[in-house]
Amino acid sequence: MNQPYVPHIAAPDAVRNLRALEWVAEIAELTKPDRIVWCDGSQAEYDRLTGEMVASGTLRRLNPEKRPNSFLAWSDPTDVARMEDRTFICTQRKEDAGPTNNWTDPAEMRVTLAKLFDGCMRGRTMYVVPFSMGPLGSHIAQIGIEITDSPYVVVSMHMMTRVSPRVWELLGAEGRFVPCIHSVGAPLAPGQKDVPWPCNKEHKYIVHFPETREIWSFGSGYGGNALLGKKCLALRIASYMGRDEGWFAEHMLILGVTSPAGEKTYVTAAFPSACGKTNFAMLVPPPAFAGWKVTTIGEDIAWIKPGKDGRLHAINPEAGLFGVAPGTSMKTNPNCMLAIRENTIFTNVALTDDGDVWWEGMTDEKPAHLTDWQGNSWTPDSGRLAAHPNSRFTCSARQVPSIDPDWENPNGVPISAFIFGGRRSNTVPLVVEAFSWTDGVYMAATMGSETTAAATGKVGVVRRDPFAMIPFCGYNMADYFGHWLKLGWSVPRRPHVFQVNWFRTDANGKFIWPGFGENMRVLKWIVDRCRGRASAVETPLGWVPDYADIEWTGLEKFGPEQFRAVTSIKHDEWEAELASHDELFERLKDRLPRQLQLRRQMLHLDLGA
Ligand code: OXD
Ligand code: MN
Repeated sequence: MNQPYVPHIAAPDAVRNLRALEWVAEIAELTKPDRIVWCDGSQAEYDRLTGEMVASGTLRRLNPEKRPNSFLAWSDPTDVARMEDRTFICTQRKEDAGPTNNWTDPAEMRVTLAKLFDGCMRGRTMYVVPFSMGPLGSHIAQIGIEITDSPYVVVSMHMMTRVSPRVWELLGAEGRFVPCIHSVGAPLAPGQKDVPWPCNKEHKYIVHFPETREIWSFGSGYGGNALLGKKCLALRIASYMGRDEGWFAEHMLILGVTSPAGEKTYVTAAFPSACGKTNFAMLVPPPAFAGWKVTTIGEDIAWIKPGKDGRLHAINPEAGLFGVAPGTSMKTNPNCMLAIRENTIFTNVALTDDGDVWWEGMTDEKPAHLTDWQGNSWTPDSGRLAAHPNSRFTCSARQVPSIDPDWENPNGVPISAFIFGGRRSNTVPLVVEAFSWTDGVYMAATMGSETTAAATGKVGVVRRDPFAMIPFCGYNMADYFGHWLKLGWSVPRRPHVFQVNWFRTDANGKFIWPGFGENMRVLKWIVDRCRGRASAVETPLGWVPDYADIEWTGLEKFGPEQFRAVTSIKHDEWEAELASHDELFERLKDRLPRQLQLRRQMLHLDLGA
């Protein structure tokens, strides 16, 4: 007999927001969960849910002596990464999503979603997770509510966002929030046994309605597909909000540099995935830089607003790290390794025989035996990776030893420089400072990065990734360039703009620049340029350092010849580069700001001179 489904949402008294109450009831009616749990972000809730997931096989508790209070999850092998081809931006008009986004008509998409979500939480618990992106109550913060049927998502949201009953207070009866609906898309029939990582193998949809500020995600339980505060809210929806309201939501780390004299300078940096963003955010200066300190405000996302002082101020809207494990080691990123010593959830890394974790690059020597991320026995000669290339760790940002004392300052930190970088084996010099704001926007708009085997299986193909935002811009990319030009020029004390490239290779394909902590040498030049005390040489691309402008103490073996190899500007390479900029601009031509076309022409003329 088909009983009508009447949800009992049993909201706590603290929930007075009418729209939230109605929306939770509506979604419960649609998805038909067995029960509803209103989450409070408490330690007791975290312990209860992790305990339940250990019992159900979703999580494995790691050896408390090796990795206290930490867990390992292995996902379904078909659910291991963000899926750009299943990510949709549904604006009323296709042109408003632009040619770099997947667009579907919102009315059509709503019909698809209504069918997929109908009864999709049967047999499961629906969790209602109130969260703040940014410090609770900050004028730069935004409130979201995620409805999910995944307890793994709830505990991850505990670390990645601020989940708290205070959100209900802040919302009051009429406050606005971003509704985020997530389901793994795997309803359970009565008596059906669950699997450790439920997901929907057939249908995956990560859908954004920027105009109504809504997120609907179906079928995946992994990372940015499911933790909807991160890429979905803090980048795709927030970039759209920022355009409307006069601010920036960016795929940028934020760091502070303190000089031996105690002078503090904050910069942000945008790098596409697989370019060492987390390492740069947690950089440890080399010994020759005694007295210099780098502190971390954020390692993935920045929200940036003009302040009353005429400067741009940035906050990290997140509260945790969701970082890529492979390649992370005490050599490449000691701050990160220390952050994940305890209270961490690992996903798709390998398990050691003594109940700890391991991934490629963590140690020089591979362990003699492991259990790989798919649960199979592994030895160094098995010929396969022990950890998935996109395996992750999730922990609170508070655990990062280099965390900046102002990382939760509700007013943000004042930004002196924007740094843009990609992975380029040639063409792009080690560092260039843009002549002007417009030139800086051109640099960022035409940024490219070479693909790595881990991401695509193909090596060395340059993918244009303007502002490292190609997968994350919630509207037309050409309009986004226009927003950058307009907002930047309206700010009296706008930051300087730099382009960097750590990845030039020699004839044998080996990196020439040592990278990691040595990037401090470039960072110091950037800081000194912002403070008007470093000299530079003029080139058609912008200002670059001379060999003598960089501090080399402790790296004397990197002589002028190597320096030339990472800084040369070759005309034939730039001809090809500009032709590739043209391809991007051709795609965006309907709305491309004229300043960028003019800068393109100038570069051609100046480089050819
Ligand atoms: C990320 C990404 O996971 O940018 O942060 O891909
Ligand atoms: Mn990212």
